[in-house]
Amino acid sequence: MKYYVLFGPPGAGKGTQAGSMVERYHLCHLSTGELLRSEIAAGTELGKQAKALIEAGNLVPDEVVEGMIEAKFKSTGGVNGFLLDGFPRTIAQAQALDRMLENTAEKVTACISIMIPDSLIQERIAHRATIEGRADDARPEVVENRIKTYHAKTEPLIEYYKNAGRYQEIDGVGTIDEVRERIFSVMDRF
Ligand code: AP5
Ligand code: MG
Repeated sequence: MKYYVLFGPPGAGKGTQAGSMVERYHLCHLSTGELLRSEIAAGTELGKQAKALIEAGNLVPDEVVEGMIEAKFKSTGGVNGFLLDGFPRTIAQAQALDRMLENTAEKVTACISIMIPDSLIQERIAHRATIEGRADDARPEVVENRIKTYHAKTEPLIEYYKNAGRYQEIDGVGTIDEVRERIFSVMDRF
């Protein structure tokens, strides 16, 4: 099984690129952001707990997302692997993922990291706000907090995956087609 971490700051293009990646490599796309938004929409207890955190641009607790990912690993079959979009997002989550995979003698195949500068994050999210209506895209101060949270808690994962020899950086500046071709040229090697 392949386990790809799809990494990058808010608005980098993770969700945009995931569709063609799962199709080409027969993967299951697991986006913790999308899973949490479905819980909110369904009004579950978990959704109620996550709502205020997400709408303020803060992370939900590690145990919550770790539990969601582990449950999906157990319940999903018939794929070549998983594309983890937006997970892990803290060192603790990365360590929890490593422990989950150790149980089946597996490892993270690669961390595919889509990088864009902070200035482009604001532009991309402002554009998406006019199309998708995501609650955490609507207010500039919330987007600022998501960027701050990314730098403080998520960016250290770059070193984590570099040290593990799993880090693959993709330039996320360019058209959607250009970025997709860069991703494919890296992933075709695995
Ligand atoms: P999540 O849903 O993961 O949001 P995010 O990481 O902030 O990332 P985005 O979905 O905003 O960006 P993206 O990279 O998918 O960009 P997209 O492809 O849409 O998480 C939301 C919240 O949930 C978190 O803040 C947190 O509270 C919680 N959460 C989730 N996971 C968690 C975890 N593991 N631990 C704790 N809490 C967690 O692209 C953006 C826009 O740009 C689109 O309009 C797109 O059309 C456009 N675009 C994309 N590529 C290009 C391009 N090349 N050129 C021009 N436009 C482009
Ligand atoms: Mg996304």
